[in-house]
Amino acid sequence: MSETLHDRIQELRAVYPDPRSAILPALRLAQEEHGGWLPPAALREVADSLEVTPATCVAVASFYDQLRLEPVGRRLVEVCTNISCALAGAQQVVEAFERELGVEAGATSADGAFTLGTVECLGGCGWATVVAIDNRHRLRVTKDDVPAIVEELRGA
Ligand code: FES
Repeated sequence: MSETLHDRIQELRAVYPDPRSAILPALRLAQEEHGGWLPPAALREVADSLEVTPATCVAVASFYDQLRLEPVGRRLVEVCTNISCALAGAQQVVEAFERELGVEAGATSADGAFTLGTVECLGGCGWATVVAIDNRHRLRVTKDDVPAIVEELRGA
């Protein structure tokens, strides 16, 4: 087990009266340390550190879009498809990313470069369509913006 991760989880655990309350922040820490997703080893580390079962950690992780139980690409593109963004053309934005990246929403490109996903409201409803790229939000994205965004990402 990573001593550093274990120690950091113990610090989190000390903040809460019930160790289970630290599951969510501990999973976020573990995800950061494991390249952006939660492999079984990471779930076990968190479970052991907080004295809960790995199944409890899986249950929490599977509830939140921000926690991932599958590997992700080096760049993560997430399009909000909730109501405000849907009304502003989010589906066309998703389809444009699928075309430009050559990967379907919910999947990672064969070279591991990109993961494309759809997410629920990103909190920027007044600036629809919102796209999170590596957790940084782009606002008012239209399908016509997508080729330039992908070109920029491929060049970065
Ligand atoms: S609906 Fe897309 S940011 Fe709220």
